[in-house]
Amino acid sequence: MPEPSIRPATDADAAAIAAIYNHYIRTSTATFDTEEKSVEDRLAWLGEHGGAYPVLVAEDRGEVVAWGSLSKWGTRCAYRHTVEISVYVAPSATKAGLGPAMCEALIERGRELGHHAIISQTVSENEPSLKMAERLGFREVGRLQQVGRKFDRWLDLVLTELLVEPAAGQATP
Ligand SMILES: CC(C)(COP(=O)(O)OP(=O)(O)OC[C@H]1O[C@@H](n2cnc3c(N)ncnc32)[C@H](O)[C@@H]1OP(=O)(O)O)[C@@H](O)C(=O)NCCC(=O)NCCS
Repeated sequence: MPEPSIRPATDADAAAIAAIYNHYIRTSTATFDTEEKSVEDRLAWLGEHGGAYPVLVAEDRGEVVAWGSLSKWGTRCAYRHTVEISVYVAPSATKAGLGPAMCEALIERGRELGHHAIISQTVSENEPSLKMAERLGFREVGRLQQVGRKFDRWLDLVLTELLVEPAAGQATP
């Protein structure tokens, strides 16, 4: 069976990205978003990405089964080498290594783009995501207590960070 291929997202992927994300908005605390996103909203979100802030999708037999992004962390200029990583795998495609593969592709892309710090914000009860981050080398750097509220519960946030070194011969821009 062919492996899912990971490629840059295009506007044509907006509906699939919304469908995967909306599943987790509705059913889980994996995201602190509580309102589902329209295709138009995801198109605008894609428009804010690109360049130094890539969005990738994993495609399996013509179907988008995961998406991941490196997004701007803070608006002040000194944060320019810091990004937030997000990865969402379609529920039918989890537990097959796609999440880590997507993270590795994003980390490599981040390195090529000259990013240095990659931050993941994960709700403390999301054990699959925390386990994945630890295996990829992310280290816990902070825990914020009761900063989220969803499904009538307070939620704690774990901040994990991976520092990326430039490839040999590549200078930090
Ligand atoms: C977290 C996530 C990206 C992991 O991707 P994945 O492709 O399933 O990763 P893996 O195949 O390596 O599985 C990772 C581990 O989590 C477990 N796991 C994955 N999804 C799970 C789920 N929904 N419930 C329980 N365990 C799950 C796997 O069994 C595996 O454990 P093991 O190594 O002990 O067998 C994916 O589950 C996902 O998209 N979750 C919802 C969105 C999310 O949490 N994104 C991260 C926000 S910070």
